[in-house]
Amino acid sequence: MKNINKYILNINKINLKEIKKKDILKLKKKYLNKNGIINLYLKKIKFIKNKKELGKKINYLKSKILYLIKNYKSILKNKESSKIKYKINYDFFFKKKKKTLGSLHPISLIKQKIINIFKKLNFNLIFYKREIEDDYHNFDYLNFSKYHPSRQMQDTYYINKKDLLRTHTSSIQIRYMKTHKPPIRIITFGKVYRNETISKSSYNMFHQIEILYVDKDEFLSIIYLKNLINYLIINLFGSKYKYRYRISYFPFTKPSFELDIYYNFKWVEIIGCGMVHYKILKNVNYNYLKYKGLAIGIGVERIAMIYYNIKDIREFFKNDIRFLKQFKYEL
Ligand code: DAH
Repeated sequence: MKNINKYILNINKINLKEIKKKDILKLKKKYLNKNGIINLYLKKIKFIKNKKELGKKINYLKSKILYLIKNYKSILKNKESSKIKYKINYDFFFKKKKKTLGSLHPISLIKQKIINIFKKLNFNLIFYKREIEDDYHNFDYLNFSKYHPSRQMQDTYYINKKDLLRTHTSSIQIRYMKTHKPPIRIITFGKVYRNETISKSSYNMFHQIEILYVDKDEFLSIIYLKNLINYLIINLFGSKYKYRYRISYFPFTKPSFELDIYYNFKWVEIIGCGMVHYKILKNVNYNYLKYKGLAIGIGVERIAMIYYNIKDIREFFKNDIRFLKQFKYEL
């Protein structure tokens, strides 16, 4: 056993910051064990005269060692907890930062694409959000006879005797013409409702885009109508698909046509169109001898299904985020 002063000197030399776990174990063993230096001195002190001085030194030495051990532990704890903190912060931080941008619904994307194409051709976008319509605007003004099949309950959702969920956006033509004078060059859109059995290819709610051009312009003709639609198809699909015009019937156009696209080995009807029937112009108090009109109705879901190659119309309305987030904003 050395002079206690030497032990004190040695202990004082120890730098807490550099101390390692094995040094601490050694310290404990050397000084604090049953046969450690502190105990040896405590035994020795009994036989010493100047107990006070040695006692102080022993206490000092012991407290110094305990201090080292205690502080080493808290330093260690701090180190570890700061490590943990850092880790948690790290993940948390990045997770928080990785905000995913939402995406537009494919129907909105296609709708906007089509609207943009017609805006370039100087059509004015107008909004008419009312989805409840009366049967005058939905049918009568548009020259549907009282006995037209689509008036019947199985096709139309009636709310009461006179009001219904609009079955097409063509009613907006009437609403607009009644409050505006020609020339008119508008595009509009909205949800429409039909009491159909839901299946892969039909739903009881869908979206339409409606285009109306009324003017006394001599160029306003079937050729003009056809050119407009060709322009739309080329801008949407390039020359990827064959398409055809087919003579058809709508009460509010004469002549009337439908446009089919050849997709998936089938002709799919996507557009109805025609020259506005003179009776419609008459119904809204336009001079039908002076003015001519053309109108186009576009089925947005059908086009979106072809554009994105979607096989089931119901996908659009499931709100499954895995489906929805595939569609990128690329207008
Ligand atoms: N409204 C028709 C429908 O729902 C589509 C349509 C056909 C709109 C001819 C038009 C048109 O503007 O001229 O099936």
